Amino acid sequence: MTGRLQGKSALITGSARGIGRAFAEAYVREGATVAIADINLQRAEETAHKIGPSAYAVHLDVTKQDSIDAAIRAVEDKTGGIDILVNNAALFDLAPIVAITRESYDRLFSINVAGSLFMLQAAAKAMIARGKGGKIINMASQAGRRGEALVAVYCATKAAIISLTQSAGLDLISQGINVNAIAPGVVDGEHWDGVDALFARYENRPLGEKKKLVGEAVPYGRMGKAQDLTGMAIFLASPEADYIVAQTYNVDGGNWMS
Ligand SMILES: NC(=O)c1ccc[n+]([C@@H]2O[C@H](COP(=O)([O-])OP(=O)(O)OC[C@H]3O[C@@H](n4cnc5c(N)ncnc54)[C@H](O)[C@@H]3O)[C@@H](O)[C@H]2O)c1
Repeated sequence: MTGRLQGKSALITGSARGIGRAFAEAYVREGATVAIADINLQRAEETAHKIGPSAYAVHLDVTKQDSIDAAIRAVEDKTGGIDILVNNAALFDLAPIVAITRESYDRLFSINVAGSLFMLQAAAKAMIARGKGGKIINMASQAGRRGEALVAVYCATKAAIISLTQSAGLDLISQGINVNAIAPGVVDGEHWDGVDALFARYENRPLGEKKKLVGEAVPYGRMGKAQDLTGMAIFLASPEADYIVAQTYNVDGGNWMS
């Protein structure tokens, strides 16, 4: 099936690479125009160029309100208004409780939580002013479903995303804006290369071992690929999801059930 997002204008944060990039490719295939909005502008431009004329790069730092407002304006200038926001940009960190630093805590909460909230707010304001409703999809994680010994801060940011999705979903549905979230499990790519390197250091493992173990532990039998998530991302952005409000969907090969 194609054309499920025909004529729609989407902004995906952190889409220069990884899951956000796969979503951008899928949305363009479905007929949308997509802003590849990332702090790494050069990589965003390369990604947009590779995807084709329906993708364009926008510089975005989700920790800066000016940057958020400018990115929404850029989408309005380019396409006339925003229909779909995917709050995808996030950072990971890992440390035992006794070694967590305030710097790491502030950085992760600023990008993962405040960044998602104020992007969501700016997109919602623009959608309300336009009067056509919209779809907002937040990237949560299985990490938001339960704590992990070395992953306290990241897990807390993703639990906050599930909670924000519920509150924003309940608030904004009266304006025709659906807010929902996707909770992936373990998805291979550059992000997990970094996660694997952190586990190698803290758990004294060879590089690659943690990835192998988490992949074997997935009931489906392997780590996820970014493309495993695109079906849910298209569905939640489409009119077929109009009656879905404030939910977080696990797309994780069976790792978590809720
Ligand atoms: N990969 C996984 O296993 C996994 C699992 C569960 C949830 N997730 C979530 O899915 C989302 C995407 O993950 P990914 O694996 O593609 O990550 P990734 O690290 O590959 O990509 C993150 C992107 O965000 C951008 N970014 C970082 N800081 C930014 C900022 N301040 N402003 C704008 N952009 C910024 C980066 O430049 C990068 O392009 C994240 O929210 C992540 O927490 C990933």
